[in-house]
Amino acid sequence: MSQNSIVAGASAGPISTGAARGLWSSRWVFFLAATGSAVGLGNIWKFPYITGENGGGAFVLVYLACILAIGIPLLMAEVMIGRRGRANPEGAFAAVARQVGASRHWRWLGTLAVLTGFLILSFYAVVAGWALAYAPAAAVGSFAGLDGESSGALFGAMLGDPWKLAGYGTLVLLLTLGIVALGVREGLERALRFMMPGLFVLLLILVGYATTTGHFLEAVHFLFDADFSKLSTQGVLVALGHAFFTLSLASGAMMVYGSYLPAGTSIVKTSLMVALADTAVALLAGLAIFPLVFANGLEPGAGPGLIFVTLPIAFGQMPFGQVVGGLFFIMLALAALTSAISLSEPTIAWLVEKFGIGRLKAVLLSGLALWLLSLGTVLSFNAWAEVTLFGKTFFDGLDYLTTNLMMPLGGLGTVLFTGWALSRTTVQEALGIGHAQLFTLWWQLLRWVTPVGILIVFLHTLGLFA
Ligand code: PFF
Repeated sequence: MSQNSIVAGASAGPISTGAARGLWSSRWVFFLAATGSAVGLGNIWKFPYITGENGGGAFVLVYLACILAIGIPLLMAEVMIGRRGRANPEGAFAAVARQVGASRHWRWLGTLAVLTGFLILSFYAVVAGWALAYAPAAAVGSFAGLDGESSGALFGAMLGDPWKLAGYGTLVLLLTLGIVALGVREGLERALRFMMPGLFVLLLILVGYATTTGHFLEAVHFLFDADFSKLSTQGVLVALGHAFFTLSLASGAMMVYGSYLPAGTSIVKTSLMVALADTAVALLAGLAIFPLVFANGLEPGAGPGLIFVTLPIAFGQMPFGQVVGGLFFIMLALAALTSAISLSEPTIAWLVEKFGIGRLKAVLLSGLALWLLSLGTVLSFNAWAEVTLFGKTFFDGLDYLTTNLMMPLGGLGTVLFTGWALSRTTVQEALGIGHAQLFTLWWQLLRWVTPVGILIVFLHTLGLFA
Protein backbone atom coordinates (compact mmCIF):
# COMPACT_ATOMS: atom_id res chain seq x y z
CA MET A 1 0.00 0.00 0.00
CA SER A 2 1.06 3.55 -0.37
CA GLN A 3 2.76 5.33 2.48
CA ASN A 4 -0.44 7.01 3.59
CA SER A 5 -3.00 5.66 6.06
CA ILE A 6 -2.17 5.86 9.74
CA VAL A 7 1.31 7.16 9.20
CA ALA A 8 0.24 10.12 7.18
CA GLY A 9 -1.66 11.28 10.24
CA ALA A 10 1.71 11.60 11.89
CA SER A 11 2.96 14.46 9.88
CA ALA A 12 -0.45 15.95 9.40
CA GLY A 13 -0.75 16.99 13.03
CA PRO A 14 -4.09 18.22 14.22
CA ILE A 15 -5.60 18.33 10.80
CA SER A 16 -8.69 16.28 10.45
CA THR A 17 -9.54 16.33 6.81
CA GLY A 18 -9.53 12.98 5.10
CA ALA A 19 -6.93 13.86 2.55
CA ALA A 20 -4.41 15.08 5.09
CA ARG A 21 -4.84 12.14 7.46
CA GLY A 22 -4.48 9.52 4.79
CA LEU A 23 -6.65 6.55 3.93
CA TRP A 24 -6.42 2.79 3.66
CA SER A 25 -5.33 1.83 0.17
CA SER A 26 -8.26 -0.51 -0.34
CA ARG A 27 -11.25 -2.10 1.25
CA TRP A 28 -9.25 -5.31 1.52
CA VAL A 29 -6.59 -3.61 3.65
CA PHE A 30 -9.27 -2.18 5.88
CA PHE A 31 -10.80 -5.62 6.21
CA LEU A 32 -7.40 -7.08 7.15
CA ALA A 33 -6.70 -4.36 9.68
CA ALA A 34 -10.16 -4.57 11.24
CA THR A 35 -9.98 -8.35 11.39
CA GLY A 36 -6.47 -8.05 12.82
CA SER A 37 -7.93 -5.85 15.50
CA ALA A 38 -10.90 -8.09 16.23
CA VAL A 39 -9.09 -11.42 16.23
CA GLY A 40 -6.72 -11.66 19.14
CA LEU A 41 -6.42 -12.81 22.71
CA GLY A 42 -10.14 -12.23 23.11
CA ASN A 43 -10.92 -15.11 20.78
CA ILE A 44 -8.28 -17.63 21.75
CA TRP A 45 -7.44 -16.83 25.35
CA LYS A 46 -10.48 -15.12 26.78
CA PHE A 47 -13.45 -16.71 25.03
CA PRO A 48 -12.58 -20.27 26.14
CA TYR A 49 -11.85 -19.35 29.73
CA ILE A 50 -14.93 -17.20 30.29
CA THR A 51 -17.04 -19.84 28.55
CA GLY A 52 -15.58 -22.36 30.98
CA GLU A 53 -16.23 -20.12 33.95
CA ASN A 54 -19.82 -19.47 32.92
CA GLY A 55 -20.93 -23.00 32.29
CA GLY A 56 -20.70 -23.41 28.50
CA GLY A 57 -23.60 -23.61 26.04
CA ALA A 58 -26.04 -21.06 27.45
CA PHE A 59 -23.24 -18.53 27.76
CA VAL A 60 -22.14 -19.18 24.18
CA LEU A 61 -25.69 -18.70 22.96
CA VAL A 62 -26.09 -15.38 24.75
CA TYR A 63 -22.70 -14.29 23.47
CA LEU A 64 -23.70 -15.11 19.87
CA ALA A 65 -26.99 -13.24 20.32
CA CYS A 66 -25.05 -10.23 21.63
CA ILE A 67 -22.74 -10.31 18.60
CA LEU A 68 -25.73 -10.37 16.24
CA ALA A 69 -28.10 -7.93 17.89
CA ILE A 70 -25.63 -5.55 19.52
CA GLY A 71 -22.11 -6.08 18.23
CA ILE A 72 -22.70 -6.01 14.49
CA PRO A 73 -25.02 -2.96 14.41
CA LEU A 74 -22.59 -1.11 16.67
CA LEU A 75 -19.58 -2.11 14.60
CA MET A 76 -21.22 -0.56 11.55
CA ALA A 77 -22.15 2.56 13.50
CA GLU A 78 -18.61 3.03 14.80
CA VAL A 79 -16.95 2.63 11.41
CA MET A 80 -19.51 5.02 9.96
CA ILE A 81 -18.93 7.70 12.62
CA GLY A 82 -15.18 7.34 12.15
CA ARG A 83 -15.43 7.73 8.41
CA ARG A 84 -17.81 10.68 8.58
CA GLY A 85 -15.87 12.42 11.32
CA ARG A 86 -12.44 11.69 9.86
CA ALA A 87 -10.71 12.15 13.20
CA ASN A 88 -9.76 10.40 16.44
CA PRO A 89 -12.82 9.16 18.39
CA GLU A 90 -13.37 12.38 20.32
CA GLY A 91 -12.83 14.50 17.22
CA ALA A 92 -15.06 12.22 15.15
CA PHE A 93 -18.01 12.49 17.55
CA ALA A 94 -17.49 16.23 17.73
CA ALA A 95 -17.35 16.58 13.95
CA VAL A 96 -20.40 14.45 13.26
CA ALA A 97 -22.38 16.17 16.03
CA ARG A 98 -21.45 19.52 14.52
CA GLN A 99 -22.50 18.39 11.05
CA VAL A 100 -25.99 17.50 12.24
CA GLY A 101 -26.37 20.28 14.82
CA ALA A 102 -26.34 17.95 17.83
CA SER A 103 -24.83 18.79 21.22
CA ARG A 104 -21.07 18.96 21.31
CA HIS A 105 -21.09 16.97 24.53
CA TRP A 106 -21.45 13.77 22.51
CA ARG A 107 -17.72 14.04 22.07
CA TRP A 108 -17.25 12.73 25.62
CA LEU A 109 -18.22 9.33 24.27
CA GLY A 110 -15.11 9.52 22.14
CA THR A 111 -12.99 10.48 25.13
CA LEU A 112 -14.43 7.53 27.06
CA ALA A 113 -13.56 5.21 24.15
CA VAL A 114 -9.98 6.46 24.01
CA LEU A 115 -9.59 5.91 27.75
CA THR A 116 -11.13 2.42 27.52
CA GLY A 117 -8.72 1.36 24.77
CA PHE A 118 -5.80 2.78 26.71
CA LEU A 119 -6.70 0.90 29.90
CA ILE A 120 -7.29 -2.36 28.03
CA LEU A 121 -3.92 -2.16 26.32
CA SER A 122 -2.19 -1.93 29.69
CA PHE A 123 -3.27 -5.46 30.62
CA TYR A 124 -3.59 -6.82 27.09
CA ALA A 125 0.16 -6.34 26.60
CA VAL A 126 0.92 -8.39 29.69
CA VAL A 127 -1.21 -11.33 28.54
CA ALA A 128 0.26 -11.09 25.03
CA GLY A 129 3.60 -11.41 26.82
CA TRP A 130 2.52 -14.83 28.11
CA ALA A 131 2.09 -16.00 24.51
CA LEU A 132 5.47 -14.56 23.62
CA ALA A 133 7.06 -16.37 26.55
CA TYR A 134 5.43 -19.67 25.62
CA ALA A 135 6.61 -19.66 21.99
CA PRO A 136 10.30 -20.40 22.71
CA ALA A 137 9.33 -22.77 25.53
CA ALA A 138 7.24 -24.79 23.07
CA ALA A 139 9.94 -24.74 20.41
CA VAL A 140 12.71 -26.09 22.67
CA GLY A 141 10.54 -28.93 23.92
CA SER A 142 9.78 -27.77 27.47
CA PHE A 143 6.27 -29.17 27.15
CA ALA A 144 7.32 -32.80 26.58
CA GLY A 145 5.51 -35.15 28.91
CA LEU A 146 3.46 -32.50 30.71
CA ASP A 147 0.27 -33.52 32.46
CA GLY A 148 -2.43 -31.33 33.98
CA GLU A 149 -0.56 -30.82 37.21
CA SER A 150 2.90 -30.11 35.84
CA SER A 151 1.50 -27.84 33.15
CA GLY A 152 -0.36 -25.87 35.80
CA ALA A 153 2.84 -25.66 37.81
CA LEU A 154 4.76 -24.35 34.79
CA PHE A 155 2.17 -21.64 34.22
CA GLY A 156 2.08 -20.82 37.92
CA ALA A 157 5.86 -20.43 37.95
CA MET A 158 5.66 -17.92 35.10
CA LEU A 159 2.96 -15.90 36.86
CA GLY A 160 5.00 -15.94 40.01
CA ASP A 161 7.93 -14.26 38.31
CA PRO A 162 7.25 -10.52 38.05
CA TRP A 163 10.49 -9.89 36.17
CA LYS A 164 9.58 -12.33 33.46
CA LEU A 165 6.03 -10.99 33.15
CA ALA A 166 7.22 -7.41 33.10
CA GLY A 167 9.97 -8.26 30.63
CA TYR A 168 7.66 -9.87 28.09
CA GLY A 169 4.94 -7.29 28.66
CA THR A 170 7.45 -4.54 28.03
CA LEU A 171 8.60 -6.28 24.87
CA VAL A 172 5.00 -6.36 23.60
CA LEU A 173 4.56 -2.67 24.34
CA LEU A 174 7.85 -1.85 22.62
CA LEU A 175 6.89 -3.87 19.54
CA THR A 176 3.41 -2.36 19.40
CA LEU A 177 4.47 1.22 19.84
CA GLY A 178 7.57 0.74 17.70
CA ILE A 179 5.41 -0.36 14.78
CA VAL A 180 2.94 2.44 15.39
CA ALA A 181 5.72 5.06 15.69
CA LEU A 182 7.74 3.93 12.71
CA GLY A 183 4.60 3.53 10.72
CA VAL A 184 5.62 0.21 9.26
CA ARG A 185 2.30 -0.05 7.52
CA GLU A 186 3.65 -2.34 4.85
CA GLY A 187 5.06 -4.55 7.59
CA LEU A 188 1.73 -4.71 9.36
CA GLU A 189 -0.07 -5.45 6.14
CA ARG A 190 2.37 -8.17 5.18
CA ALA A 191 2.24 -9.70 8.65
CA LEU A 192 -1.54 -9.74 8.50
CA ARG A 193 -1.57 -11.41 5.13
CA PHE A 194 0.19 -14.56 6.31
CA MET A 195 -0.79 -14.42 9.95
CA MET A 196 -4.54 -14.60 9.55
CA PRO A 197 -4.57 -17.65 7.29
CA GLY A 198 -1.72 -19.17 9.30
CA LEU A 199 -3.55 -18.85 12.58
CA PHE A 200 -6.65 -20.31 11.02
CA VAL A 201 -4.76 -23.35 9.70
CA LEU A 202 -3.06 -23.95 13.04
CA LEU A 203 -6.39 -23.78 14.82
CA LEU A 204 -7.78 -26.33 12.38
CA ILE A 205 -4.80 -28.59 13.13
CA LEU A 206 -5.51 -28.23 16.83
CA VAL A 207 -9.18 -29.00 16.36
CA GLY A 208 -8.10 -32.03 14.32
CA TYR A 209 -5.87 -33.14 17.17
CA ALA A 210 -8.67 -32.52 19.65
CA THR A 211 -10.86 -35.01 17.79
CA THR A 212 -8.32 -37.74 18.64
CA THR A 213 -8.63 -37.22 22.39
CA GLY A 214 -11.87 -39.13 22.67
CA HIS A 215 -13.52 -36.16 24.37
CA PHE A 216 -14.48 -34.11 21.33
CA LEU A 217 -18.20 -34.75 21.60
CA GLU A 218 -18.18 -33.90 25.26
CA ALA A 219 -16.71 -30.55 24.30
CA VAL A 220 -19.30 -30.03 21.57
CA HIS A 221 -22.05 -30.68 24.10
CA PHE A 222 -20.40 -28.38 26.60
CA LEU A 223 -20.16 -25.57 24.05
CA PHE A 224 -23.50 -25.92 22.32
CA ASP A 225 -26.03 -27.47 24.71
CA ALA A 226 -27.69 -24.50 26.33
CA ASP A 227 -28.45 -25.21 29.96
CA PHE A 228 -29.64 -21.88 31.32
CA SER A 229 -29.52 -23.04 34.90
CA LYS A 230 -25.73 -22.78 34.62
CA LEU A 231 -25.79 -19.16 33.52
CA SER A 232 -25.85 -16.43 36.14
CA THR A 233 -26.96 -12.84 35.64
CA GLN A 234 -23.35 -11.86 35.96
CA GLY A 235 -22.59 -14.34 33.18
CA VAL A 236 -24.97 -12.51 30.85
CA LEU A 237 -23.09 -9.27 31.46
CA VAL A 238 -19.80 -11.05 30.82
CA ALA A 239 -21.20 -12.32 27.49
CA LEU A 240 -22.30 -8.81 26.54
CA GLY A 241 -18.97 -7.31 27.57
CA HIS A 242 -17.14 -9.94 25.60
CA ALA A 243 -19.13 -9.18 22.46
CA PHE A 244 -17.75 -5.64 22.71
CA PHE A 245 -14.26 -6.78 23.56
CA THR A 246 -13.94 -9.36 20.82
CA LEU A 247 -15.19 -6.99 18.09
CA SER A 248 -12.94 -4.18 19.39
CA LEU A 249 -15.94 -1.95 20.05
CA ALA A 250 -16.41 1.00 22.39
CA SER A 251 -12.67 1.49 22.67
CA GLY A 252 -11.96 3.66 19.68
CA ALA A 253 -10.23 1.02 17.57
CA MET A 254 -12.91 0.45 14.95
CA MET A 255 -13.80 4.13 14.88
CA VAL A 256 -10.24 5.23 14.28
CA TYR A 257 -9.78 2.54 11.63
CA GLY A 258 -13.04 3.71 10.06
CA SER A 259 -11.63 7.23 9.95
CA TYR A 260 -9.03 5.99 7.47
CA LEU A 261 -11.60 4.25 5.28
CA PRO A 262 -12.06 5.68 1.78
CA ALA A 263 -15.52 6.93 0.91
CA GLY A 264 -17.57 4.54 -1.14
CA THR A 265 -16.41 1.28 0.43
CA SER A 266 -19.21 -0.85 1.82
CA ILE A 267 -19.19 -0.66 5.59
CA VAL A 268 -21.92 -3.25 5.85
CA LYS A 269 -20.25 -6.04 3.93
CA THR A 270 -16.88 -5.50 5.54
CA SER A 271 -18.34 -5.39 9.05
CA LEU A 272 -20.24 -8.62 8.47
CA MET A 273 -17.09 -10.31 7.23
CA VAL A 274 -15.09 -9.11 10.22
CA ALA A 275 -17.73 -10.36 12.66
CA LEU A 276 -17.94 -13.70 10.89
CA ALA A 277 -14.18 -14.27 10.90
CA ASP A 278 -13.98 -13.24 14.53
CA THR A 279 -16.75 -15.58 15.64
CA ALA A 280 -15.34 -18.46 13.63
CA VAL A 281 -11.94 -18.12 15.31
CA ALA A 282 -13.50 -18.03 18.78
CA LEU A 283 -15.61 -21.13 18.18
CA LEU A 284 -12.65 -22.99 16.68
CA ALA A 285 -10.58 -22.10 19.72
CA GLY A 286 -13.32 -23.51 21.93
CA LEU A 287 -13.44 -26.71 19.90
CA ALA A 288 -9.66 -27.05 20.13
CA ILE A 289 -9.37 -26.42 23.82
CA PHE A 290 -12.30 -28.08 25.62
CA PRO A 291 -11.59 -31.62 24.40
CA LEU A 292 -8.12 -31.20 25.93
CA VAL A 293 -9.61 -29.83 29.13
CA PHE A 294 -11.84 -32.87 29.53
CA ALA A 295 -9.25 -35.38 28.35
CA ASN A 296 -6.80 -34.19 30.97
CA GLY A 297 -9.24 -33.92 33.82
CA LEU A 298 -8.85 -30.17 34.02
CA GLU A 299 -11.39 -27.71 35.33
CA PRO A 300 -13.22 -25.71 32.55
CA GLY A 301 -13.62 -22.83 34.98
CA ALA A 302 -9.91 -22.68 35.79
CA GLY A 303 -9.70 -19.02 34.78
CA PRO A 304 -7.26 -16.95 32.74
CA GLY A 305 -4.64 -19.70 32.62
CA LEU A 306 -6.91 -22.15 30.79
CA ILE A 307 -5.25 -22.21 27.37
CA PHE A 308 -1.77 -21.83 28.82
CA VAL A 309 -2.29 -24.95 30.88
CA THR A 310 -4.20 -27.12 28.40
CA LEU A 311 -2.47 -26.46 25.09
CA PRO A 312 1.08 -27.24 26.29
CA ILE A 313 -0.10 -30.72 27.33
CA ALA A 314 -1.28 -31.31 23.76
CA PHE A 315 1.89 -29.88 22.24
CA GLY A 316 3.95 -32.11 24.50
CA GLN A 317 2.17 -35.20 23.19
CA MET A 318 1.37 -34.64 19.53
CA PRO A 319 3.73 -35.41 16.66
CA PHE A 320 5.74 -32.32 15.66
CA GLY A 321 4.42 -30.68 18.81
CA GLN A 322 7.47 -28.46 19.14
CA VAL A 323 6.96 -26.97 15.69
CA VAL A 324 3.18 -26.73 15.96
CA GLY A 325 3.37 -25.33 19.49
CA GLY A 326 6.09 -22.83 18.68
CA LEU A 327 4.21 -21.62 15.62
CA PHE A 328 0.93 -21.47 17.50
CA PHE A 329 2.21 -19.20 20.24
CA ILE A 330 4.03 -16.99 17.73
CA MET A 331 0.81 -16.63 15.75
CA LEU A 332 -1.11 -15.92 18.94
CA ALA A 333 1.42 -13.24 19.88
CA LEU A 334 1.13 -11.74 16.39
CA ALA A 335 -2.65 -11.80 16.54
CA ALA A 336 -2.39 -10.03 19.88
CA LEU A 337 0.05 -7.54 18.39
CA THR A 338 -2.30 -6.49 15.59
CA SER A 339 -5.01 -5.99 18.22
CA ALA A 340 -2.64 -4.08 20.47
CA ILE A 341 -1.73 -1.78 17.59
CA SER A 342 -5.40 -0.97 17.10
CA LEU A 343 -5.75 -0.37 20.84
CA SER A 344 -2.95 2.17 20.84
CA GLU A 345 -3.96 4.09 17.73
CA PRO A 346 -6.99 5.91 19.23
CA THR A 347 -4.90 7.34 22.07
CA ILE A 348 -2.11 8.37 19.74
CA ALA A 349 -4.41 9.93 17.16
CA TRP A 350 -6.18 11.71 20.04
CA LEU A 351 -2.95 13.13 21.48
CA VAL A 352 -1.70 14.20 18.06
CA GLU A 353 -4.93 15.77 16.87
CA LYS A 354 -6.16 17.27 20.11
CA PHE A 355 -2.92 18.64 21.49
CA GLY A 356 -1.03 19.15 18.26
CA ILE A 357 2.02 17.22 19.45
CA GLY A 358 4.15 15.12 17.11
CA ARG A 359 3.37 11.47 16.61
CA LEU A 360 6.63 10.27 18.14
CA LYS A 361 6.06 12.34 21.25
CA ALA A 362 2.53 10.97 21.52
CA VAL A 363 3.86 7.43 21.25
CA LEU A 364 6.51 8.00 23.93
CA LEU A 365 4.08 9.69 26.28
CA SER A 366 1.40 7.05 26.01
CA GLY A 367 4.07 4.33 26.07
CA LEU A 368 5.41 5.48 29.40
CA ALA A 369 1.94 5.71 30.95
CA LEU A 370 0.96 2.31 29.55
CA TRP A 371 4.12 0.70 30.82
CA LEU A 372 3.63 2.01 34.37
CA LEU A 373 0.03 0.85 34.38
CA SER A 374 1.01 -2.56 32.99
CA LEU A 375 3.17 -3.12 36.06
CA GLY A 376 -0.01 -3.11 38.13
CA THR A 377 -1.27 -6.07 36.12
CA VAL A 378 2.10 -7.82 36.37
CA LEU A 379 2.17 -7.47 40.15
CA SER A 380 -1.45 -8.56 40.56
CA PHE A 381 -0.34 -12.10 39.69
CA ASN A 382 2.38 -12.25 42.32
CA ALA A 383 3.38 -9.56 44.82
CA TRP A 384 -0.07 -7.94 44.87
CA ALA A 385 -2.07 -11.14 44.44
CA GLU A 386 -3.70 -10.60 47.82
CA VAL A 387 -4.41 -6.91 47.29
CA THR A 388 -8.04 -6.63 46.27
CA LEU A 389 -10.70 -4.00 45.81
CA PHE A 390 -14.34 -5.19 45.75
CA GLY A 391 -12.85 -8.69 45.82
CA LYS A 392 -10.87 -8.18 42.64
CA THR A 393 -7.16 -7.95 42.00
CA PHE A 394 -5.74 -5.08 39.94
CA PHE A 395 -5.94 -7.14 36.76
CA ASP A 396 -9.45 -8.49 37.44
CA GLY A 397 -10.63 -5.03 38.42
CA LEU A 398 -9.26 -3.38 35.30
CA ASP A 399 -10.71 -6.11 33.10
CA TYR A 400 -14.11 -5.78 34.78
CA LEU A 401 -14.12 -1.99 34.71
CA THR A 402 -13.27 -1.77 31.01
CA THR A 403 -15.08 -4.75 29.52
CA ASN A 404 -18.16 -4.98 31.69
CA LEU A 405 -18.76 -1.35 32.61
CA MET A 406 -17.03 1.12 30.28
CA MET A 407 -17.66 -0.81 27.07
CA PRO A 408 -21.40 -1.36 27.54
CA LEU A 409 -21.83 2.27 28.63
CA GLY A 410 -19.82 3.64 25.72
CA GLY A 411 -21.60 1.30 23.33
CA LEU A 412 -24.98 2.41 24.63
CA GLY A 413 -24.04 6.03 24.14
CA THR A 414 -22.85 5.36 20.61
CA VAL A 415 -26.04 3.61 19.53
CA LEU A 416 -28.13 6.36 21.07
CA PHE A 417 -26.09 8.96 19.21
CA THR A 418 -26.41 7.10 15.92
CA GLY A 419 -30.02 6.05 16.24
CA TRP A 420 -31.48 9.14 17.87
CA ALA A 421 -29.21 12.15 17.36
CA LEU A 422 -28.60 11.47 13.68
CA SER A 423 -31.38 11.41 11.15
CA ARG A 424 -32.34 8.34 9.21
CA THR A 425 -31.23 9.85 5.92
CA THR A 426 -27.88 10.99 7.27
CA VAL A 427 -27.13 7.50 8.53
CA GLN A 428 -28.41 5.75 5.43
CA GLU A 429 -26.28 7.98 3.27
CA ALA A 430 -23.20 7.60 5.45
CA LEU A 431 -23.53 3.84 5.58
CA GLY A 432 -24.23 3.59 1.90
CA ILE A 433 -26.98 0.98 2.23
CA GLY A 434 -29.04 1.25 -0.92
CA HIS A 435 -31.36 -1.62 -0.04
CA ALA A 436 -34.32 0.00 1.75
CA GLN A 437 -35.60 -3.03 3.68
CA LEU A 438 -32.15 -4.04 4.78
CA PHE A 439 -31.50 -0.58 6.05
CA THR A 440 -34.81 -0.44 7.89
CA LEU A 441 -33.95 -3.71 9.61
CA TRP A 442 -30.56 -2.42 10.73
CA TRP A 443 -31.99 0.95 11.71
CA GLN A 444 -34.70 -0.54 13.93
CA LEU A 445 -32.22 -2.97 15.44
CA LEU A 446 -29.90 -0.12 16.25
CA ARG A 447 -32.58 2.23 17.60
CA TRP A 448 -34.44 -0.27 19.74
CA VAL A 449 -33.04 -3.74 20.17
CA THR A 450 -29.42 -2.74 20.74
CA PRO A 451 -29.93 -0.04 23.38
CA VAL A 452 -32.73 -1.85 25.19
CA GLY A 453 -30.63 -5.03 25.16
CA ILE A 454 -27.64 -3.28 26.67
CA LEU A 455 -29.78 -1.49 29.25
CA ILE A 456 -31.58 -4.60 30.41
CA VAL A 457 -28.39 -6.57 30.90
CA PHE A 458 -26.69 -3.68 32.54
CA LEU A 459 -29.42 -2.73 35.01
CA HIS A 460 -30.15 -6.33 35.75
CA THR A 461 -26.59 -6.94 36.79
CA LEU A 462 -26.44 -3.87 38.91
CA GLY A 463 -29.51 -5.23 40.65
CA LEU A 464 -31.67 -2.29 39.65
CA PHE A 465 -34.00 -4.33 37.57
CA ALA A 466 -35.35 -7.68 38.61
N1 PFF B 1 -10.71 -7.56 19.87
C1 PFF B 1 -9.46 -7.87 20.53
C2 PFF B 1 -9.45 -9.32 20.92
O1 PFF B 1 -10.49 -9.99 20.82
O2 PFF B 1 -8.42 -9.79 21.35
C3 PFF B 1 -9.22 -6.99 21.73
C4 PFF B 1 -9.46 -5.52 21.48
C5 PFF B 1 -8.77 -4.89 20.45
C6 PFF B 1 -10.38 -4.85 22.23
C7 PFF B 1 -9.02 -3.54 20.20
C8 PFF B 1 -10.63 -3.52 21.99
C9 PFF B 1 -9.95 -2.88 20.97
F1 PFF B 1 -10.17 -1.64 20.75
